[in-house]
Amino acid sequence: YILIMDFGGQYSQLIARRVREAGIYCEILPFDVSIDRIKSKSPDGIIFSGGPSSVYGEESPKCDEGVFKLDIPILGICYGGQLIAQHFNGKVMRAEEREYGKTELNIVDSSGIFKDLGDNLNCWMSHTDFISQLPEGFSVIANTPSCPVAGMKDENRKIYALQFHPEVNHTEKGTEMIRNFLYNICGLIQDWNMGDFAKEEIERIKEKIGDKRAICALSGGVDSSVAAVLVHRAIGQNLTCIFVDHGLLRKDEGDQVEKIFTERFDMNLIRVNAQERFLSKLEGITDPEMKRKIIGEEFIRVFEEEKNKLKDIDYLVQGTIYPDVIESGTDKASVIKSHHNVGGLPEDVDFEIIEPLRELFKDEVRVLGRSLNIPEDVLMRQPFPGPGLAIRVLGEITEEKLHIVREADYIFREEIKRAGLDKDIWQYFAVLPNIKSVGVMGDGRTYAHTIALRAVNSSDGMTSDWARIPYEVLEKASNRIVNNVDGVNRIVYDITSKPPSTIEWE
Ligand code: XMP
Repeated sequence: YILIMDFGGQYSQLIARRVREAGIYCEILPFDVSIDRIKSKSPDGIIFSGGPSSVYGEESPKCDEGVFKLDIPILGICYGGQLIAQHFNGKVMRAEEREYGKTELNIVDSSGIFKDLGDNLNCWMSHTDFISQLPEGFSVIANTPSCPVAGMKDENRKIYALQFHPEVNHTEKGTEMIRNFLYNICGLIQDWNMGDFAKEEIERIKEKIGDKRAICALSGGVDSSVAAVLVHRAIGQNLTCIFVDHGLLRKDEGDQVEKIFTERFDMNLIRVNAQERFLSKLEGITDPEMKRKIIGEEFIRVFEEEKNKLKDIDYLVQGTIYPDVIESGTDKASVIKSHHNVGGLPEDVDFEIIEPLRELFKDEVRVLGRSLNIPEDVLMRQPFPGPGLAIRVLGEITEEKLHIVREADYIFREEIKRAGLDKDIWQYFAVLPNIKSVGVMGDGRTYAHTIALRAVNSSDGMTSDWARIPYEVLEKASNRIVNNVDGVNRIVYDITSKPPSTIEWE
């Protein structure tokens, strides 16, 4: 068991993910967790995350000093590493220049954390402070052109510090560094997998809900389907899934979801046709955050009404995953967009909310779904945002625009499938940017909508790159859309990555 202590870093969940991928059970706790609680968990090793503070700041987060006396391996990353340096009387200083991004790492000690990883690697730096003087008992294990202590260790106490971030994809062999810490330094072996997560989570939910009843917000997408099956395993028929058709789904999607869930899953399902109430609430609304908040609230109001009809329901299960949480903003991370099920939630919610997937990334949810024997075609559905087409029609939403984007999206998806690309692309869809332009069709002038096609590759939705779709496929989709969807005379293809863009346009 590995304990990750969170000092407010952007990547704390990524560290947890890397540890899980290495087949080891871990947990993230806040930096100020008490020493008694830590001892009660008997960790085999501790990882300190990074964080935005400076160790010399007055309010900077510090852990209980007892952590250093537990005699178990510690790995400190970025701020966490500086904290180790400070605790053992080394020096941390503010650098003249911030070091940010890809940096060449020179490994000077290729044992322990860097075992079998070669001499030179690219690593990902993101810091202003650096360790300027080694604490006693420590030796340098790596440096970079501008950072004399990019890594240090005290082999006797098994304490390691890294200035860069081994947990991010951009650090070459970062995963191996974390594995070296876990296997070679903490002496752990791979003995945990998503099947274990499922078992533990089912037990936890059983204990929490007991013989009470719950409803699950089901969209038919990967996350809510996995959450529903997990909770169903825990409480059986005391769970009722509520599928809300908010009039913002893709072509024929409402019927398809209903069919899949009634035919393939032995779960109680209620479909609520709420098209009119959602669309009337959205009338005249153009601001993306307003749209998201209205939809988030309306979902909850529908669930509350269903709760009152069913009676004795205490819990609402949601398939919220980690990127929904981080993008909606936390007290440390800023708001990118309010995901309907997190930042879009109203303040007064008449339920206790259960979110079993809250710490997982989408690809981990798929692995979990496989361990629960959920059919592959459900697990491999492309992600679709809860606010649906409301955030793919920019500006004001009207029935006419929804119809146009729905038809265009359907054609694009069909062409991607025909080309055999549907399994390879993370997400592919049409957007109506609310621009009209001049065209010529037959012999006449047109003044009609533009459709933007978007297709991206990603592993977790946090970053993405635009998909290099063959021109022929784009050409076919473009021709078919312009010829078959009234009100469209121009097609463009979005070629921006995330960042600086996001996957959805709103
Ligand atoms: P962005 O647009 O932030 O999207 O790059 C990242 C991933 O999240 C999906 N997304 C949402 N999913 N509720 C959801 O359930 C939302 O409010 C929401 N907004 C974006 C998006 O489709 C992409 O997969």
